[in-house]
Amino acid sequence: MTDHDTPAPTAGEAPAPAPTAGDGAAPLVELRGAGKSYGNIRALHGVDLTVHAGKVTCVLGDNGAGKSTLIKIISGLHRHTEGDFLVDGAPVRFASPREALDRGIATVYQDLATVPLMPVWRNFFLGSELTRGPWPVRRLDIARMKATADQELRRMGIVLDDLEQPIGTLSGGQRQSVAIARAVHFGARVLILDEPTAALGVKQSGVVLKYIAAARDRGLGVIFITHNPHHAYLVGDHFSVLRLGTLELSADRADVSLPQLTDHMAGGAELAALKHELAQVGGVDVDLLPEEKDLTAPLAAPAAPPSEGNP
Ligand SMILES: Nc1ncnc2c1ncn2[C@@H]1O[C@H](COP(=O)(O)OP(=O)(O)OP(=O)(O)O)[C@@H](O)[C@H]1O
Ligand SMILES: [Mg+2]
Repeated sequence: MTDHDTPAPTAGEAPAPAPTAGDGAAPLVELRGAGKSYGNIRALHGVDLTVHAGKVTCVLGDNGAGKSTLIKIISGLHRHTEGDFLVDGAPVRFASPREALDRGIATVYQDLATVPLMPVWRNFFLGSELTRGPWPVRRLDIARMKATADQELRRMGIVLDDLEQPIGTLSGGQRQSVAIARAVHFGARVLILDEPTAALGVKQSGVVLKYIAAARDRGLGVIFITHNPHHAYLVGDHFSVLRLGTLELSADRADVSLPQLTDHMAGGAELAALKHELAQVGGVDVDLLPEEKDLTAPLAAPAAPPSEGNP
């Protein structure tokens, strides 16, 4: 039941980076009724989530909704206290992030864990440096590390002028991109991104969204955590909205519109109350805020299939 029944790839076929998102294939990662309590604080409860290869699963939610708790379970930092957590269809309970990484689950945290003054290529291999020569005269294989970093960044479409520059001199978006390329190079099958666009402007966010799409196109299952429904909707295949630790919405792209997603994020009633309050304040044009009825109305019959990445 838990095994992959897919036949071995025929000779001559390039090995796939991950099992393809076949309809019958087990999801890379699955949560079933998962929950987490910290002592008597129930941070997460009854959460279902599936991550498929070649798909972007967006997890949205306000502050304190439980997004970080959710990804800490998947990345092996915390253990779930309710429900099931499955990888490739089999239940797991990771003792550490190392175990998650060994199963191909890589997490890019917001602080990125880079060393700002070290060159880009050095950061790319941080903790997994390539060496050459036998012990005890083993040395860092600088040439091979530079060439590999350069090649991997290019494969993701990331062009940097100079890999010798300290990574701290790159923009926030470029640094996120390097972290994504790094995870892909080190064999990630599932890539978890914790609010990668939170601190970025419009253009830099676009850069990061582009590499999220690139990782997806290389067959990774991506979990994209964000506050921003617009960013989510540009790249997402599935949307899970958390509120107070439970799933408030879990919908495929075809079943939810951007205004509806925004409404679920903001909370329609809260937005209406906010609009009412703002109406009392001079200089705020509340007519620009969406009408509540527009937000909660059912999605009109889908016209053309959504053209990916096109707003
Ligand atoms: N280590 C902990 N011990 C006790 N309570 C915690 C712990 N970590 C998180 N919580 C609580 O669990 C709830 C969910 O927190 P979590 O960090 O997962 O939210 P979040 O969605 O990531 O929020 P944000 O957008 O602010 O990052 C919060 O009420 C938080 O106070
Ligand atoms: Mg968080």
